[in-house]
Amino acid sequence: RDNTPRYRIGFSQCTGNDDWRRNMLTEMKRELFYHPEMELLYRDAESDNKRQVQQIHELLAEKIDILLVSPNEAVPLAPAIAEVYNKGIPVIILDRKAATDSFTAYIGGDNYNIGKLAAEYIAGQLGGKGNIIEITGLRGSSPTVERHKGFLDALAHYPGLKLTATLEGGWEADKTRQSAINNKAAIHQADVVFAQNDVMAYSMYRYCRENGLQHIKFIGVDASPYPDAGIDLVSRGILSASLLYPSGGKEAISMAADILAGKKAARNTLLQTVLIDSSNVKLMRLQIDKIQAQHQEIEKQQSLLQEQRRLYQDQLHLLRIVATT
Ligand code: FRU
Repeated sequence: RDNTPRYRIGFSQCTGNDDWRRNMLTEMKRELFYHPEMELLYRDAESDNKRQVQQIHELLAEKIDILLVSPNEAVPLAPAIAEVYNKGIPVIILDRKAATDSFTAYIGGDNYNIGKLAAEYIAGQLGGKGNIIEITGLRGSSPTVERHKGFLDALAHYPGLKLTATLEGGWEADKTRQSAINNKAAIHQADVVFAQNDVMAYSMYRYCRENGLQHIKFIGVDASPYPDAGIDLVSRGILSASLLYPSGGKEAISMAADILAGKKAARNTLLQTVLIDSSNVKLMRLQIDKIQAQHQEIEKQQSLLQEQRRLYQDQLHLLRIVATT
């Protein structure tokens, strides 16, 4: 089979600097193993809207055949995304949405349900009574809005639960810490912190423990499979629970391959979530370890295969030289 890439996939990532997105890229690269016809052009906007717009234009100039994009914030990124789409280049939007209908397909986790399940879990933990602090992501990114809405809608069923403050943590540890410092009084009254990702939940945990607030419990989102990330934090009892937020990396690459092969793609793909706490975290870990071992095995086989191919090519080359002399 011919191994020269024929298609260029541009991937504009809002930020590459966290475990969840590292996992997304790993999943993409794994899937790309099966698609030697595609090469990935990757750009990391480091959480900067303007930079991401500029990088989308760079990718356009590199003559990409399809764009994958996870927009930092929905409104500022909309025009650049629509521009690509209107040039006839397919666009798959990942995880965070854009404020435009000009795209081919969207793949992302069920953020509304994540918020809802978090509230129901907290209600169970607190026996329906207590004070909650919510820490949100960037106000302009769509999962912030959807997780918050799901959370509020479910809380409405529990009159004894009080959402005493919703603070912006911007998806990041440092911003979260600053918000906590600015809202000391509310945090001292809290029984539970629901943070919209594990990075912010862990930041709040550290802040609270440093300030002698031992009783507060923490719920996060993502459940990424790395040291000091969600699954690990739940198994160490630092977080009470984390809601799995699937990255969609694998799905994005196989959908891109389908679109480039002329197949039709679903307009909306919603990836399911599951709550991970002490009752199922061990099972989760076992499964992740198993999958990782399988992937390592596949990667080993792939490189052996490549080595064989190289040897074969060398021998062919030698044979030709022998034949012509
Ligand atoms: C990673 C991240 C995740 C979060 C997602 C929302 O950059 O902040 O932690 O679930 O983005 O888009």
